[in-house]
Amino acid sequence: MDNTRLATILSIAALAIAVVAFVQGRGQKVPEAYVPGLGEIMTLQQMRHAKLALAGGMANWQLADYETDELNEGFEDMVKFHPTHEKVPKPLTELVPQYVDGPVKDLRAAIEAKDTAKFDAAFDALTAGCNGCHEAANFKFNRVIRPTAPPVPNQDFRPN
Ligand code: HEC
Repeated sequence: MDNTRLATILSIAALAIAVVAFVQGRGQKVPEAYVPGLGEIMTLQQMRHAKLALAGGMANWQLADYETDELNEGFEDMVKFHPTHEKVPKPLTELVPQYVDGPVKDLRAAIEAKDTAKFDAAFDALTAGCNGCHEAANFKFNRVIRPTAPPVPNQDFRPN
C-alpha cells in the first residue's frame, strides 16, 4: 500500500470516528433531576403519620413536633412536585391546603400546649383530612387509620 492510499484510508477513518462521536454526543441526554412520585411522597407521609400518633400517644412532644414538621414538608413537596396530577380532578395546590392546613395548625397548638386530649382530636382531624383528600382525589380506597401497632421495631418513641 503506498503512502497516499494509506493517508486517504486514515483520514476517512478519522472522519468516520468524528461523525460517530458527534452523533453520539448529540444523543446524550442531560441527566434528569430526580422528582419523587406522588405515591412515593405519600408512602413517606404514611410513616410519619404513624410515628406522629405514637409520639403524641407517649407525650413525646419533641418527637411529635418533629414529625409534624416532617409531615408538613411532605405536604409542601406534594404541591411543589405535583401541583396537578393526571388522575386527580382538582389541583393539589387547592386540595392539600384545604384538607390538611387546619389539622396541622391544631396539631402544632396541641403540641405546644402539651395537651394530650387536644392532640388526639387534632390527630383524628388530620386522619380525616388524609381520607377526605383521598376521596376528593378519587383514591378513596387508600384509607388511613390510627395505627394499631408501632410502625417500626427499631425506634424508641418514649420521651428522652
Ligand atoms: C391531594 C390530597 C391528599 C392528601 C392531603 C393526602 N393524600 Fe395520600 N394520596 C393522595 C393521592 C392522589 C394518592 C395516590 C397517589 C399515586 O399513587 O399516584 C395517595 C396515596 C396515598 C397512599 C398510598 C401509597 C401507596 O403507594 O401505597 C397512602 C398510604 C396515603 N396516600 C397516605 C396519606 C396520609 C397518611 C395522608 C395524611 C397525613 C395523606 N395521604 C394525605 C392524595 C392525598
